[in-house]
Amino acid sequence: MKKGKVDALLGIVFGDEGKGKVVDVFTPDYDVVARFAGGPNAGHTIIFEGKKFVLRSIPSGIFAQDKINIIGNGCVIAPDLFMAEAKELEAAGYELKERLHISKRAHLILPTHRVLDRAYEAAKGKAKVGTTGKGIGPTYSDKAARTGLRIGDILDGFEEKYAALKARHEQILHDLHYTDYDITEEEKLWLEGIKYISGFQLTDTEIEINRYLKEGKNVLAEGAQGTMLDIDHGTYPFVSSSNTTSGGVCTGLGVGPTDIREVFGIFKAYSTRVGSGPFPVELFDETGDKLREIGHEYGAVTGRNRRCGWVDLVALKYAIMINGVTQLIMMKSDVLDGFDTIKVCVAYKKDGKVMENMPFETEGCEAVYKELPGWKENLSKLTEESQFPQEFRNYIQFLETELETPITILSVGPDRAQTIVRK
Ligand code: GDP
Ligand code: IMO
Ligand code: MG
Repeated sequence: MKKGKVDALLGIVFGDEGKGKVVDVFTPDYDVVARFAGGPNAGHTIIFEGKKFVLRSIPSGIFAQDKINIIGNGCVIAPDLFMAEAKELEAAGYELKERLHISKRAHLILPTHRVLDRAYEAAKGKAKVGTTGKGIGPTYSDKAARTGLRIGDILDGFEEKYAALKARHEQILHDLHYTDYDITEEEKLWLEGIKYISGFQLTDTEIEINRYLKEGKNVLAEGAQGTMLDIDHGTYPFVSSSNTTSGGVCTGLGVGPTDIREVFGIFKAYSTRVGSGPFPVELFDETGDKLREIGHEYGAVTGRNRRCGWVDLVALKYAIMINGVTQLIMMKSDVLDGFDTIKVCVAYKKDGKVMENMPFETEGCEAVYKELPGWKENLSKLTEESQFPQEFRNYIQFLETELETPITILSVGPDRAQTIVRK
């Protein structure tokens, strides 16, 4: 009988909801923090005691000294980027080698995967996905095609396997007439990264996690990206290449659905999207610019402008359904301070038809809004719910009623301390 449980914390829109911050806040309540999907396309920001870290592959539980952190089998890893990220943490005084365990089944991102990412994007003309360029799609493609290389391959006959997959990629690039690239320097660093990563605990993390659960230890599964970027449920083809939703927790860690207890769905008090693809709530006006400026909505990985708009109930209801969300966490509420009115997208409209359910295609959909009064107080200074302005309470209540799910945590600033748990 397993006594421990897995709670999942999932971005439920287009990513960058503030997962890193909340995982860091939650970590003291867990024994293990595990990433189950994605790779260095993620950028999870953690701020405390005047320090700021942006994590890409390493779980955000790493700042609590006594916790195990796991990179699960559903993840993809770039050894060179991993090395840079890990060395930065080591330089800041965080010991990793004992506490960070990496699944032998996680797939490796090769330098040529990144070239393929660029080549496929270039070949797409106007319909580019706007990927992070980290080789995510090509790596998951190799996984599905059963041609990929895994972390466990480092331990046995690696050079040969690497040369074979690299040659295969070079052939594809040649066929695509995409030959103007040079990975010489990148490859050196990458191979150095392979050596470096082999000094970590490369384990059968699915067995390890299930042993922890048997021992009564609790696991926090840290999502990457968001539901609308999920390969199955997102705005395909403008998505990432993994299952970012709760099903991905099971496949990406090797735990059963009955091991999952809470599913925390995290979203911002407004919406953002980085990269291309339909985004019905996108604002092209001053309000959109204001949200970007106040919310500092620039990509943590690529520095790109994030597209901004009001909160989208069609997307949120869909994500709550797909993931089985049990509790909601609303982030960046402080960014809405000072707006006279706040809009909420309650439906989409296309060709005169109003839709409250997520349609197959959101391209060409317009947002239908309901307006609520804003507040003028500075939320970032608040420490408990009793101090909330009435308009903010109304906003929370409206969302809870529409979404039929409680919002149990509110974030009012980027720092660890600016987090309010509702009683
Ligand atoms: P993640 O990918 O989901 O971990 O989110 P990112 O780190 O990419 O983006 C979230 C950004 O919002 C980061 O810059 C955080 O420091 C910041 N942030 C998180 N919570 C809050 C909040 O409540 N208020 C404000 N103003 N910023 C926040
Ligand atoms: P976190 O974990 C926001 C987006 C990219 C692009 C699409 C596909 O920080 O929330 P990919 O490189 O994965 O093939 O790109 O997905 N994307 C993200 N957007 N946050 C992320 O991660 C993202 N990871 C990928 O911008 O539109
Ligand atoms: Mg991010």
